[in-house]
Amino acid sequence: MKVLVIGSGGREHALAWKLAQSERVEKVFAAPGNGGTAGEKHCENVDLLGRDPAEGEIQEALIRYAVKERIDLTVVGPEGPLAAGIADRFRSAGLAITGPGVEAARLEASKDYAKTFMKKYGVRTAQSLSFTAAAEALDAVRSHFAGAAGPGSPPPLVIKADGLAGGKGVVIAEERAAAEKTVTAFMEEGVLGSAGKTLLLEEFLQGPEVSVLAAVSAGPGRKGCILPFVSARDHKRRFDKDQGPNTGGMGAVAPAPGFTGALQEDFHGAILAPTLEGIEAEGFDYRGFIFFGLLIQNKRCYLLEYNVRLGDPETQAVLPLLDSDFAELCIAIEGGTLEDYHPVWKPGAVCAPVAAASGYPGEYPTGDAIAFNEAAFAGTQAVLFVAGAVRSPGGPAGSGLRTAGGRVLAVSAYGSNGAEARERAYRALKAVSFNGMSYRRDIGL
Ligand code: AMP
Ligand code: GLY
Repeated sequence: MKVLVIGSGGREHALAWKLAQSERVEKVFAAPGNGGTAGEKHCENVDLLGRDPAEGEIQEALIRYAVKERIDLTVVGPEGPLAAGIADRFRSAGLAITGPGVEAARLEASKDYAKTFMKKYGVRTAQSLSFTAAAEALDAVRSHFAGAAGPGSPPPLVIKADGLAGGKGVVIAEERAAAEKTVTAFMEEGVLGSAGKTLLLEEFLQGPEVSVLAAVSAGPGRKGCILPFVSARDHKRRFDKDQGPNTGGMGAVAPAPGFTGALQEDFHGAILAPTLEGIEAEGFDYRGFIFFGLLIQNKRCYLLEYNVRLGDPETQAVLPLLDSDFAELCIAIEGGTLEDYHPVWKPGAVCAPVAAASGYPGEYPTGDAIAFNEAAFAGTQAVLFVAGAVRSPGGPAGSGLRTAGGRVLAVSAYGSNGAEARERAYRALKAVSFNGMSYRRDIGL
């Protein structure tokens, strides 16, 4: 099989790496890919329209490419192309693709829509109200903070922009002034463009978060199935002990510590089962992946969000635990035989800390050479997943990689338990260096 992976981050490198291991896969093309996919065995990057083409144009170009190259299967990494309808376009052109159609992609593209769906099908989630007028949202903010004038301080208020906002659409406001400022910035000043025109005010929940990635195969005329993967935990704040600004994710571990059998059962009953029921009842063509962003409060799982794709960096921690063939999983999703796919997971754990450029998530330099001590790295049996780096042909000695993003790479290390995985991962990171490289030291703790 020839497989095409769409996207350019660490998740896509992990997907390409895993797909390339399949006996059924002869070649993986990554569009546009990154310096990691460029150097992976049996992988090749595809640059169709240069930098930052319009989404519609790139989708047409990808279809032409997939037809011409006789691509057997396309796997979509990020949400943008899914929300823009890439899966429907590929399927209309007779091409197999792993990714939900545009209707189902609204579960991520609109938080308001997702919340309505959760309420309609009884998926356990935080309470919330939706607003399209700033004045009304501001009134609700004021009454939230006024209402708690009694003993104790008012709980924070969670403010969520409706649309895709690249991780910048959720603000937890501790005080009225901050909440008002956010509402005004989102709804009136348009800091997130159209993504902030509709907004949710949500109840603040407290507890550890867990990511569950899963495969979904559902659609008209077939019996739906959601197959959850081993759980994971992302660490979103920039600095140790969850300090500093939110990022795209500073590292992940799998499985998520503390996600016990009882919690998994609760997740199945309160979240997974009603989600599948909803997907079927809405008649979605959902052949792809789903990501459940959970928060555990008082031993109960609450769904904070759906993503209609795999998580980044969770994928870099979860896929190395999968012993089964990933291309076969994608075929089962597409063909409606997911129920007969029985994945084998390695016992043990993976720890995948991310190395970032200095300044990230603010401004950061690019173009710095990445040095790589191969012997030291090999001793840890870790895998290097590139997120933001390019490979320059004939580049510097060592890896030939140069930084090109804020999150530069992750090392993904396996261990028979979390502690061993962590020890190996941090040893592996010591074998990598670039100017200004920094990382959290508490991934998995
Ligand atoms: P979301 O994109 O909805 O997952 O929100 C991004 C992050 O904001 C989550 O991973 C949580 O850390 C936090 N968050 C979202 N909703 C809530 C909530 N209701 N209570 C507390 N924290 C939340
Ligand atoms: N790790 C969260 C995400 O992929 O959005």
